[in-house]
Amino acid sequence: MAPVLELRGITKRFPGVLANDHINLTVEKGEIHALLGENGAGKTTLMNILYGLYHPDEGEILVNGNKAAIKSPIDAIKAGVGMVHQHFMLVPVFTVTENVMLGEEFTKYGGVLDRNKAAQKVQEISDKYNLNIDPNAFIKDMPVGLQQRVEIIKLLFREANILIMDEPTAVLTPQEVTELFKIMQTLIDQGKSIIFITHKLGEVLECANKITVIRSGKVVGTTDPKTASMNELATMMVGREVKLEVDKADQKVGDIVLDVHDLKVLDPRGSIAIDGINFEVRAGEVLGIAGVQGNGQTELVRSLTGLLTPIDGSVTLSGHNITHSNPRQITELGSAHIPEDRQKDGLVLSLPISDNLVLNTYYLKPYSKGIWLDQKVIIESGEKLVKSFDIRTPSVFTPASSLSGGNQQKIIVAREFSRPIKLLIASQPTRGLDVGSIEYIHKRLLAKRDEGCAVLLVSTELDEVMQLSDRIAVLYRGKIIAIVDGKSASKEQLGLLMAGISHETEKLSN
Ligand SMILES: Nc1ncnc2c1ncn2[C@@H]1O[C@H](COP(=O)(O)OP(=O)(O)O)[C@@H](O)[C@H]1O
Ligand SMILES: [Mg+2]
Repeated sequence: MAPVLELRGITKRFPGVLANDHINLTVEKGEIHALLGENGAGKTTLMNILYGLYHPDEGEILVNGNKAAIKSPIDAIKAGVGMVHQHFMLVPVFTVTENVMLGEEFTKYGGVLDRNKAAQKVQEISDKYNLNIDPNAFIKDMPVGLQQRVEIIKLLFREANILIMDEPTAVLTPQEVTELFKIMQTLIDQGKSIIFITHKLGEVLECANKITVIRSGKVVGTTDPKTASMNELATMMVGREVKLEVDKADQKVGDIVLDVHDLKVLDPRGSIAIDGINFEVRAGEVLGIAGVQGNGQTELVRSLTGLLTPIDGSVTLSGHNITHSNPRQITELGSAHIPEDRQKDGLVLSLPISDNLVLNTYYLKPYSKGIWLDQKVIIESGEKLVKSFDIRTPSVFTPASSLSGGNQQKIIVAREFSRPIKLLIASQPTRGLDVGSIEYIHKRLLAKRDEGCAVLLVSTELDEVMQLSDRIAVLYRGKIIAIVDGKSASKEQLGLLMAGISHETEKLSN
């Protein structure tokens, strides 16, 4: 029997980038085929081609052995291909059924949408695949994990046989990930096929039947998860040996550096984002803030770095009250910041690397000479930093905009780490980076801790928080619902806390 899907020689060029380079991929009926690759490897591009959003420069698509002309998502759906996007496309104030019906011609008499019939079909789909979705529930009342299932129902409603899931676990708690994997299993048991995209090694080993690794737009190989190891897959992904474990020295904690007391912060719309939290970070320790995205992380970091003024409470840095200080005052007291949005808050993209490396010190000696900047010193110092922080660039004159995400992040790290600091606030420091750059940034971060710097790590990557932190605080709806020891914390316990369940975890830790 012909495979359910075959991609042959798919090639896609963007200006200056060969995003897909003669990619071959075969998916069998009833399999979860993982597409594993670092950020920028070309995974989403390939899936956008399969879903008819992009047109390939070369190559062909075969569905059940027949050539399929997929020129738009409508063609893709006709061919039985559906895609769950990285960002959901649901209308919050609509019900499940209303969302499923959007854009669908499910009519009774001349253009009148038949809600009841549709709701019934949604219910049937939900039952058949154990999705546990109420057709009449409103999207706005559902946690992200359930919203994702509605996206899946939308595809099943349209009779998709090949489901593309682009990084579906990125927005889920560990428990929700487990649930999703169960659903994926049910789907393939019933004869569907899934293309599961991820950059997380553990996940592919857990749920895939087959793994295709792509790197720089090319297929590196296809392997069997039963026999593949994490290290092998990492090497395939990155193209060299990578160290997955983080070496962490024993901890020598010192005095309190950052002290946060009853802090309250509003979000841009004026609702409470941080709701009276207390914690401290000591010299020589990493305090990790874990939590699902959108639980107040952004506002917390902005208030600690002077970008947002709290409405109540206090923040103290090495004995100085900085509750109402501005970013420059806080920087001058020895606080460094790796911002969540590196392109917006961390860099001036149009400026050369050398200038980006002195963004918060240019007015000081030796860079400033009275009213003049000493470009010679700035360039020399930039060249040194480019070398020692392994920033891959043709020169220090290159604008920051033309570097990859990983190298942009290294500019920020180089700048923030090359002056004396007591406190480091790192927000999503490795988001979107490749495994190689992640390894590098983690090493540098722990080196700061070992030098006696206090480190506040805010990350929605639970693995990262668990690997690096000495203590872990879990942020849920603007409150810290628990602070646990980094060594003994389990993924299960943290996952429950991230979902706002604190009483059950007490049993776990007893
Ligand atoms: N619409 C686009 N225009 C230009 N370049 C793009 C576009 N989409 C993706 N790219 C580039 O193609 C490469 C592959 O990107 P992508 O497919 O998104 O990777 P992945 O999903 O594996 O992270 C990257 O270098 C990216 O910058
Ligand atoms: Mg992608």
